[in-house]
Amino acid sequence: MEPGARIYVAGHTGLAGSAIARALQRAGHANLVVRRHAELELTDARAVSDFFQRERPEYVFVAAAKVGGILANDSFPADFIHDNLGVELNVIREAWRAGTKRLIFLGSSCIYPRDCPQPMKEEYLLTGPLEPTNRAYAVAKIAGIELCYSYNRQYGTRFLAVMPTNLYGPGDSYDLESSHVLPALLHKIHAAKQGGEPRVPIWGSGRPLREFLYSDDMAAACVHLMRLPEERFERLVHPTQVPLINIGAGKEISMGELASLIAEVVGYRGEFAYDASKPDGMPRKLLDNARINALGWQPATTLRDGIALAYQDFQRRFADAA
Ligand SMILES: NC(=O)c1ccc[n+]([C@@H]2O[C@H](COP(=O)([O-])OP(=O)(O)OC[C@H]3O[C@@H](n4cnc5c(N)ncnc54)[C@H](OP(=O)(O)O)[C@@H]3O)[C@@H](O)[C@H]2O)c1
Repeated sequence: MEPGARIYVAGHTGLAGSAIARALQRAGHANLVVRRHAELELTDARAVSDFFQRERPEYVFVAAAKVGGILANDSFPADFIHDNLGVELNVIREAWRAGTKRLIFLGSSCIYPRDCPQPMKEEYLLTGPLEPTNRAYAVAKIAGIELCYSYNRQYGTRFLAVMPTNLYGPGDSYDLESSHVLPALLHKIHAAKQGGEPRVPIWGSGRPLREFLYSDDMAAACVHLMRLPEERFERLVHPTQVPLINIGAGKEISMGELASLIAEVVGYRGEFAYDASKPDGMPRKLLDNARINALGWQPATTLRDGIALAYQDFQRRFADAA
């Protein structure tokens, strides 16, 4: 990817997209094409076609998606499947029509079966039933992978799907109803500290193990992949294989340990009240990183440092809450 290459980051105002835009700028790529959601509705086929024909981006990162936590996914499955399929269909097709050289499509680890062996390897895709609560979202993301694969097979495109683990970082959503587990916990623990509450209720036993990756590390991985020399990139998107690669932190932590770590960063000294009557979900969810590690990428930010950076961002953005 040449320094002056024309690069479109779809979803550049979001958690993942903003991190990718920062990583590109840090790496000296200044010719970014971006549009806010209000300027370009990616479920609108005509608008996306006009945009790609006009801008003809050489490289595309697809970080635009309708995302949310368990509650949002479970409550609005039709919106999740409709919007995500719409974005993928339009962006991937138009990138092919506009002659985009390489495209990276972001999915998530929920594409793997609910009872997947751990750690989850790329080849476990479509080997078992999905977790029911985010099935609609996962099916849309699997369709995105299949679109990349199908365009590579039929048209010789170089489209790659990456599956990051749970992300957190600057610009995250902290909405208690719809956000992911780490930002939601951070918000709850911060509020408990501010309100002088002696304990914070936590869903489940606190025992499930989860993996978290700082968004800037995920972005560095995406940029690293996009900049791979031709022959190495070619191997990832070769039409004989599903173009899929995991991006994980390589470490897991129990939900209880995560709550304690956040409390340390926030400076909260109360207790946690685990509600074991609430479901824990899968006991373990860890991505296998062998493939991306072999390509020369490792995460750089420890969980403690990343949470401290996220907390600074939270306090800056919600100054009245700090
Ligand atoms: N967050 C995680 O833990 C995580 C983990 C693994 C993978 N990922 C993947 O990363 C990608 C992005 O997630 P995120 O967490 O960065 O989400 P996010 O913070 O909600 O950002 C999504 C971005 O997409 C835009 N967008 C959504 N629908 C759009 C549409 N129809 N047309 C145009 N723009 C649209 C949003 O704009 P508005 O906000 O203005 O609507 C926003 O800029 C997703 O594919 C997700 O699967 C995320």
